[in-house]
Amino acid sequence: MIPLNADALNDPALPWHVTVLDETGSTSDWLKERAADLPVGTVVFTESQTAGRGRRDNRWIAPRGKDLMFSLLLKPDAPLERWPRITTLAALAICKAIETELPLQPRIKWPNDIYLQDRKLSGLLAETVSVRGSMLLILGIGLNVNTVEFPPEITATSLLREVHSPALAELDRNTLANRLLEALHADFQRLEDDFSGAVGEVRTRSWLMGRQIRAKAPQGEFFGRVLDLTEEGHLVLEFADGRTHTLTSAEEVRAVK
Ligand code: BTN
Repeated sequence: MIPLNADALNDPALPWHVTVLDETGSTSDWLKERAADLPVGTVVFTESQTAGRGRRDNRWIAPRGKDLMFSLLLKPDAPLERWPRITTLAALAICKAIETELPLQPRIKWPNDIYLQDRKLSGLLAETVSVRGSMLLILGIGLNVNTVEFPPEITATSLLREVHSPALAELDRNTLANRLLEALHADFQRLEDDFSGAVGEVRTRSWLMGRQIRAKAPQGEFFGRVLDLTEEGHLVLEFADGRTHTLTSAEEVRAVK
């Protein structure tokens, strides 16, 4: 196994302060507990999580040393109501970093997942924390890189699994993490100035577009066909009777036949 290397991940051209841990409960919890003492731009990677968390109280389980699990401490330069844009930009950046490194076409499953070949490749977890009266954002990212076997109840895949190259034992996570950190920095610049341009790029990578879905949203459950994304990155659904509805968030989205 090629270990994660903090020296290789600290690129002086980027604003990130990268730490690599051997093991922690959850990188997002690690940042939350230290947010008051760490600079914005701190990024923590770990080789192993003992209490990795996903959305909706799900666990995020990954074997030691195989994948990428990291969290970023951010203070987005925008009003709080625009912070959900960070998740959209991060999903786009993850796709673009993967496309730069590998002959793969990842797709964004609105709002928080990245898919490859109808299987989950990556998940995003955005949480806010208040430090001395000021809000910060902790963005946790799990990306399956080298794991090739998943429990049957999980519809997941990894980059190594999808490159279909039997001679390749392992993808170098350091190279990939560098591409991710570059891409995240570049796309976060679009938060206020070019968000609709970024949404245009998300649209071409949307896994949901045109699919019939069931979405559990705060307002209730919705069934419909995905028509589009708005300029804010919200999901436009068309119901069977032709009416449309825009979802601004959802806890769970499933494609249905
Ligand atoms: C999801 O798909 O539900 C989101 C998964 C987020 C997992 C990452 S792994 C790094 C960071 N630490 C955590 O405990 N969770 C996030």
